[in-house]
Amino acid sequence: MQTPAMTAELDWSSLISAAIAIRKRAYAPYSGFAVGAAVQTAGGQVFVGCNVENASYGLSLCAERSAIVQAVSAGQRDLIAIAVAASPLATPCGACRQFIAEFGQQIRIAAVDPAVPAIVRQWSISDLLPECFRFDGPPVAQR
Ligand code: THU
Repeated sequence: MQTPAMTAELDWSSLISAAIAIRKRAYAPYSGFAVGAAVQTAGGQVFVGCNVENASYGLSLCAERSAIVQAVSAGQRDLIAIAVAASPLATPCGACRQFIAEFGQQIRIAAVDPAVPAIVRQWSISDLLPECFRFDGPPVAQR
């Protein structure tokens, strides 16, 4: 029997809608490429994020990491899915794949172009980043 926290259904439709909606908040004056992301936790909570660019280009933050930081900052680390909205459709970059994998190998990913909402591509993070780096070093005080 699963605990209530584990029974939340994955509601792709609202997760995708949330990613599409938050994309409007993207701060992308350098690339002009707006991205929105929404993560769902095992308990059914949704956290959103958009890309936030910087004049020092390399500091730019992707939408996926922005959404994950929101979830973790709210005390939620049990992530089960992430939806990404961009036009044209974008798959998470390598850095974001590693960032997503930190919170579970089974996390599902969906990518959609808001201009073509009927086409949704889906993977699990282990499809997109097999053999991800894991750190099994000495135990740290706080994890
Ligand atoms: N970007 C994301 O936010 N997510 C992705 O999956 C791919 C790229 C952002 C980074 C940058 O602000 C812009 O898109 C162009 O690379």
